[in-house]
Amino acid sequence: MSGQGANESTEAVWSAVDDYLTGHLLPDDPVLAATLEASTAAGLPPIAVSAAQGQMLHLFALMLGARRILEIGTLGGYSTLFLARALPADGRLVTLEAMPHHAEVAAANFKRAGLDHKIDLRVAPAIETLPKLEAEGAGPFDLVFIDADKPSNTDYLRWALRLTRPGGIIICDNVVRNGAVLDGASADASVQGVRRFFDALSAETGVTATAIQTVGAKGYDGFAMIRVCAA
Ligand code: SAH
Ligand code: DHB
Ligand code: MG
Repeated sequence: MSGQGANESTEAVWSAVDDYLTGHLLPDDPVLAATLEASTAAGLPPIAVSAAQGQMLHLFALMLGARRILEIGTLGGYSTLFLARALPADGRLVTLEAMPHHAEVAAANFKRAGLDHKIDLRVAPAIETLPKLEAEGAGPFDLVFIDADKPSNTDYLRWALRLTRPGGIIICDNVVRNGAVLDGASADASVQGVRRFFDALSAETGVTATAIQTVGAKGYDGFAMIRVCAA
């Protein structure tokens, strides 16, 4: 069963329901639309969070009153903008991207959105930037969004735990992967990365965690959510 996926008509319904929900709940947003258009035009893969998911990230940041946000995996900066828009005037977001071309597209998108002054885009493999952030005292962060190369998820979880304030939240994207997360024999390095992530997370004390399966415009996937305990 794992990784089997739904049939095409089921996926079409998920996507149509996403359109229905976002049509009712999210305002028309020329800046976000332009961000996706510029990303597509520049040849970036269509793997940004959906609008409904982006708005969920925005709501999490608002609920936390987040002032410091860390994102691992920028792409064209679509999720970044949902998060950055939740920041107060003196809030800051650091986003990490390995590919210079993706970062260039993202930087232009941040400028168009008028949010470049709040966003610190670091272009390098995240595993190189994370220790620098710690050394700089860039944290602690209220919210961390992990959404980069899945084989490194466990490393990113460890860094996120170091860099998140007590009571802060870590969100990790793509942890279900069409059900493939069940397949311990998977040859997919991303699936194995997600499975190692859950093994590490299950052994972690001092966190309260869950994961929620999602369907929608991005198919069948899920988010892990972790609260770093206050004591
Ligand atoms: N968060 C974005 C999507 C990110 S896609 C959104 O929802 O809008 C994953 C991104 O992670 C890609 O841009 C990819 O280039 C980047 N990435 C892959 N490996 C990386 C690494 N080792 N360090 C930093 N970024 C990486
Ligand atoms: C992929 C990566 C993502 O972050 C995502 O949300 C969907 C797909 C991918 O690498 O295929
Ligand atoms: Mg993702």
